Amino acid sequence: MTLTIVGSQLGDEGKGALVDRWGGDADVVVRYQGGDNAGHTVVEGGAEYKLSLVPSGAVRGTVGILGNGCVVNPKTLFTEIDDLRERGLDPDVRVARRAHVIMPYHRVLDGIEEEVKADDDAGDAVGTTGRGIGPTYEDKAGRRGVRIADLLDPDTLREKLEYAVPQKRALVEDVYGLELDDDDRAAAFDVDALHEEFAAIGERLADEGMTVNSSDYLHRRFEAGDEILFEGAQGTHIDVDHGNYPFVTSSNPTAGGAAVGSGLGVTRVGDGEVVGIVKAYLSRVGEGPLPTELDGDADEEALADEIREKGGEFGTVTGRPRRIGWLDLPMLRHAARVSGFTGVAVNHVDVLAGLDELKVCTGYELDGEELDTVPTTTDRWERCEPVYETLDTWEPFDSSAVAEAGYDALPEAARDYLAFLADEIDTPIYAVGVGPDREETVELTNPFDE
Ligand code: IMP
Repeated sequence: MTLTIVGSQLGDEGKGALVDRWGGDADVVVRYQGGDNAGHTVVEGGAEYKLSLVPSGAVRGTVGILGNGCVVNPKTLFTEIDDLRERGLDPDVRVARRAHVIMPYHRVLDGIEEEVKADDDAGDAVGTTGRGIGPTYEDKAGRRGVRIADLLDPDTLREKLEYAVPQKRALVEDVYGLELDDDDRAAAFDVDALHEEFAAIGERLADEGMTVNSSDYLHRRFEAGDEILFEGAQGTHIDVDHGNYPFVTSSNPTAGGAAVGSGLGVTRVGDGEVVGIVKAYLSRVGEGPLPTELDGDADEEALADEIREKGGEFGTVTGRPRRIGWLDLPMLRHAARVSGFTGVAVNHVDVLAGLDELKVCTGYELDGEELDTVPTTTDRWERCEPVYETLDTWEPFDSSAVAEAGYDALPEAARDYLAFLADEIDTPIYAVGVGPDREETVELTNPFDE
């Protein structure tokens, strides 16, 4: 069977811990979209692993696939694999030959576009991670991308670079009016230098047998009865189709992306479990609306600071402090509908312990209308007034003891909070995260046991 893990909010819901936990029961863990913009922290036996590209299951020794829907920065990939090897692990990671490569010029262009947008006063900078994600997907759709398979054939690689690079150079020089020659960014636009570097990367990928036809490989594994876990990165509300456009990433973190981005058929993926990962409050890194954001007055800002500190809400990839808000049920309803959740896992329930007050947004008011889900435009979402319900708070508890004793050991108010959430989105709770370690999870249902 398959299990697809999807971020229900804006990324950073703590997907890595669940992927790692349930990944132990999987034979293959697959990433199907995104690239090294993702950040997963996996804590195993007190050791902390920060991964952005290598699938989280690799910490447990499960085969990791980067599917065709991913955009791969091979330098990040090798650095992470080398680091894990130095720490005594032996990750088995394979990359789809159909996946697109993030080239150095994509990262440079990501930075330039963000600077230009930030300067033009229109307020439309996205606050990207600067990893070149958007420009790489643009080239994929524009049919001028470099794919992993191209790195394995130096002649094809040269052809692709000779076609794409002059266009990129013209974009920087003629459209953005920047001079590249005296700039340390020039190497990113030098065909010969790029060819040498990326042909060598292709050699290493080939030497280590790291490339794969992901559709064919996953089909065989599925037919052999293996368990396949799809590890979504980012989250529903930054999905390029279903998120808060244009403040989105350029891929589909929602469950449909798992089939398209891996080549395993949609009936196979749809026949499995789809679990939405929920943070018990909201965090957002980057720009865009956040109706329940705690930034109204000094009290709210102090509360946001408290949650940020307790929850370690600083970007894994960029270190940026995350914006904080109350749990927003219209966002969760949208997420559950788009991906068809069969269950949810709610993380960071420990972080809310000991607060003076606890609110949940149950709906929005917009232009005199009540809404139960997220409007389709950023402008309308920005103008939504949250409708809140205030729930009882709970005292801090011993996370390890609760994780061991099970769900009933959670404080009653925390159980009420979870039951309220599950009821509102009509989806059962499969797991509750009460601390960062994999062991600090209360499991009600293991989707692979279903
Ligand atoms: P990009 O994916 O780097 O193009 O960034 C686009 C938007 O998605 C920005 O608002 C980023 O902050 C956000 N984003 C990208 N990856 C993640 C993630 O893994 N967690 C949370 N936000 C992310």
